[in-house]
Formats: sequence, C-alpha cells, structure tokens
Amino acid sequence: MCGIFGYVGTKKNAAQTVLEGLKLLEYRGYDSWGVAVKEKGGNKEQKTKFVVEKRTGKIADAKLNSKFLILNSSLALGHTRWATHGGVTDKNAHPHIDCTRKISIIHNGIIENYQELKKLLEKKHHKFLSDTDSEIIPHLIEEELKKFGFATSVRNAFNMLRGMNAIVAAYSISSEMVIAKTGSPLVIGENKKEFFVSSDATSILPHTKKMLFIKDNEMAIIGKNLQLINLGDGKKQKINFETINWKSQNLKKGKFPHFMIKEISEQPNIIRNIATTYQDQVSSLTKTIKTAKGTFFIGAGTASFAGLIGTYFFSKIANKHVNMAYASEFNYLLDFIKNKSLIIALSQSGETIDVVEPLTIAKKKKAKIATLTNTQGSTIYRMSDEKILLGAGIEQAVASTKAYIAKLSILLMLSYQLVNSSKTASEQLIESANEIEKIIKNKKKLKPVVELLAKNKHIYIIGRGVSYPTALEAALKIREVSYIHAEGLAGGELKHGTIALISKGTPCIVFAPLDETHDAILSNAIEIRSRGGIIIGVSNKNHPAFDYFIEVKNTSDATALSQIVPLQLIAYELALKKGYDPDKPRNLAKSVTVK
Ligand code: F6R
Repeated sequence: MCGIFGYVGTKKNAAQTVLEGLKLLEYRGYDSWGVAVKEKGGNKEQKTKFVVEKRTGKIADAKLNSKFLILNSSLALGHTRWATHGGVTDKNAHPHIDCTRKISIIHNGIIENYQELKKLLEKKHHKFLSDTDSEIIPHLIEEELKKFGFATSVRNAFNMLRGMNAIVAAYSISSEMVIAKTGSPLVIGENKKEFFVSSDATSILPHTKKMLFIKDNEMAIIGKNLQLINLGDGKKQKINFETINWKSQNLKKGKFPHFMIKEISEQPNIIRNIATTYQDQVSSLTKTIKTAKGTFFIGAGTASFAGLIGTYFFSKIANKHVNMAYASEFNYLLDFIKNKSLIIALSQSGETIDVVEPLTIAKKKKAKIATLTNTQGSTIYRMSDEKILLGAGIEQAVASTKAYIAKLSILLMLSYQLVNSSKTASEQLIESANEIEKIIKNKKKLKPVVELLAKNKHIYIIGRGVSYPTALEAALKIREVSYIHAEGLAGGELKHGTIALISKGTPCIVFAPLDETHDAILSNAIEIRSRGGIIIGVSNKNHPAFDYFIEVKNTSDATALSQIVPLQLIAYELALKKGYDPDKPRNLAKSVTVK
C-alpha cells in the first residue's frame, strides 16, 4: 500500500535517492507515484518552490524529465500511492502542495474529518487541485504558518486530523523535514549527516543500519540533526536508535521470470530451516499457550487461513482448543478478552491495519500478544510480547505463498511441541519439503488442469478438516492473480446450498488427502460428478471419481503444506495464460495499512 520515502542530507541528488527508495517500496503495490524536490542554488524562484513530478503507472515506465533527475538538491520526498480517496490520476498522486507551492507533503492513512476541514479551508479561499483527503494537509500548514514556525505549524495541523495517519512535510524556505504519525509505520535512518525516512526499514538498509522507529503520537524533525517530540504536549523525547542487523536480502528475481514463482520455489528450504532450527524459538510461546486462558489466532486473508489450519493442528495434535477470527472482525469479538487471554497475530508484513487495530484494543485490556510475522521491527512485531519471525525472507509478490508455508510450519511445530514431540514435527516437515520440491520440479504435469480451468468463469474448491482452509486459500490464490471466480468451501457445506451452482462441465477441485476426511470428501466428489461437474482430485492416490488427478504424497499432518503448492502453481500459470502480471494483481496491495 502507500509508501513514503524522504531524504535530507549532504547528497546532491536527492531526487535520485528518493526514486531509488520508492523502487524498493514498489512491492507494497501502488498505482501512481510522485517526488517533490527542493532545488539547491538556482534563481530565487527555484529556491523557494518545490519541483514536483507526479505520474500514474509504474516508476520504471515513466519517461522522466532529465532536468528533474539532475537537479542539484539535498532534500526530496516521494510517495507511492494506492488510491483510496480520489481516482488514479496524476493530480491525486502525492506529494501535495499548498497555494504558495512552498509546502510539500506526503501522507499515508485516511483523514476521517477531511470534509469538514476542507470546507473551512475553502472559506479561507484555498484552492484544491486533487480529489484526495491528503491535499488539505499542506493548506492547513499554510494557515498555521501565518502564526507559527514550520515545525509547530505541522504539529498543529497534524493534530487537527482524525484517524490513523502518517505524514512527512517539507518547507522550501527551511532545510528540515517534519514527520508525524498516529498510525501507519514510519522509520528514520541516520548515516552521519544524512537522514532517510520511510514506511519500511528495508528500503533504508542500503544506506544505513541505524534506525529509529517512530511511535504513534510522535513527531520528528530531521535536517542538520534529529529531534523527537511528543505530538500532544510538544515536549522533547529521548531518542533510542536501534541497529538493524538484518542479513541483506536477495531482492532480485534472479533466474525466475516473476517473484511469485521464485517465492514458491523457495518454500522447501524455508520449511527445512524451520524444521531444523526452530525448536528453541517456539518453546517460549509453547509455555505461554499452556498457561493462557483462551487463545485466539487472528489474521487477514491468507494469514487468516493459516490461522484456521492452526486451529485444526492444535485440536488434532495437541488436543487444545484455539479460536480463529478474521482480524477485521475481531474488533467486534473483543468483549470477552481478559488479561489472561492470548492473542496470536499472524501477519507477513506486520503492518496490516486490520490486525493492528484489535491488537491495540486487546493490549489495553492487558491481554498477552504474540506474533508470527515475517517483518522484524514492524508495528505488530513491536506491539507483541512474544514474537517468532517466519524467516521466509522478504516476500515481494503481492500474493502470499512462502510466508503462508512458513506460518504453517511454525504452527505445526508449536502443536507438536505442546505435546513434547517437536521431533515428529521436524520429520514431517522435512518429508513435506521433499514432496514440495518434487511437485515444483514436475509442474509441467499441471498443464492440462491449467488449460481446463482457464476456459472457465467459475471454479469450486472443497476440502474437509485441515483441507477446508486449504480450499479457501487455493480459491483466494486463483482469484487474486487470475481474476477467475473461485470459491472454497467445506465439503460438508456443499449440499447446503452451493451444489445448486454445479452443472455440466463445472470444474471442482477436491482435496482428498489420506486422512480422516478421505471417504467423506470422496462422497462429495461423487455428488458433484453426478451433476455433471468435472473433478480435479488432489490426493495421494487416484480414484475413479477424478477426471484429473494431481498427486500429492501423504506426509502426515504436513500434507496441509504440500497440497497447497500445486494450487499456488496453478494460480501462477493461470495468471500467465490470461496475460496478467502475477506479481502485481490489480487493486491489491502487499501491505494493507488502511481500513
Ligand atoms: C493473499 C495475501 C493477503 C494477505 C493479507 C494479510 O495472497 O497476500 O490476503 O495475506 O493481506 O497480510 P499480512 O500477512 O501482511 O498481514
């Protein structure tokens, strides 16, 4: 989702630095982008106004004005936008500027009271060029500047905004940037006399490892030095830099045409790593789960399906009841949360607002918070009392694959550790990693199924038990990258309604692993077939009810990991067949930081 990147320091090519920073934020998803640069030197006119480039589409596709790139500048701010208020247009892209063109801002979040503030500004004759809520911010600052200095004006203006917001503001008369937030992540990096600000620490890593994570209700001023201020009372705060020792990650596609297939291919090694090195890492959370009075998994989308699989693992393996809730619904289920409750948040990015929000409320109720996240230093990571990193490496394709597999591996490990059998989890995981490697190697075998599905507008996917969340996840993968309508459901639910949609030729994928669900799900397959449906069976062994057979060897409980992989591959191939970019599906963002 929207990304912020700003630079102020000794470099003379600030616009280039910011553009490179924005490219590292691209994986979050965006539909337009922009950069504002304060030019050093030049004539008086240039000195006091921002030069702004704003475009729809991708940064790499833009034919940039070469003058813009070679501007002699040491201050610039840039933004990748994912449209919420106002369509995808050049004008709606950030940065936004005030009437004098001297104030420039970038913004993440949604200003809940923007309409009333905009009306007040219109009465004062401010002119607006965009349809966004964000554009009111530079005008509010412009008004405050009539009475106060720049930093105070930003603070006053920001304090008028309702909602969870993060901004970076710059004033062409000054060589400082002001940063403020009540939501959305922001991190500042310092390297000698240079400062970087970004939505995401990894985009600052090429420049420095010394970082300051800005907390909600804090404001920072960067320029010649750094000041941290409480947004409420304006008092100075102590600055605690952290050194980020993340291994530099492989952010390139390498031999792969897309990140999605690269990330699918990384899964066997991610599982092996968890199988062999995570016993100790999960032991503290295992103890916490044992003593908690009520444990809840929460997550959004793919992460929620991982949580749902977790409930089946915990029930079957550890005889332990755990609830799963969609994080966005958990807000309405929080009444019974007590100080002994344990909330385990599942989140690849660690930034999903739908997860952050209920966690904030649960924290106020003194519940214990744990997280399985891929992102060290993220908002959810920092809110959590206990954290387990997924260790999947940065996931860049919008559709989550390897983070999902990592979550399942850790959940399996946790379930077995609850009954003191982590060795069993490790063995099953290694077997599953080997099976996944084979599935990926033999992906050509999936071609006939891809050909069949590509011709259809509707696909139904069923599973029972632990394969029910797998069906939900498989359907989501197909929907999000191929835009074909795919629906996942519990096998037993079929005849309670959806079977009405099955007619001659309707494709139906059936997860039929060799477990306690095998016979019942085959009966469902036969019911569908007798109504003309075409059955694609995903199983350890073929069956006369299957028109197509996708073989996935049984690897005990870890079959839940192996059997999703052919569906990840099918979704990827469907996207290619339909001519879509599987890494950047339409309307979707990687890090969903607004509601
Ligand atoms: C689907 C997908 C999303 C995310 C969801 C939560 O492929 O990627 O459904 O799983 O937006 O994101 P995180 O895990 O970052 O909280």
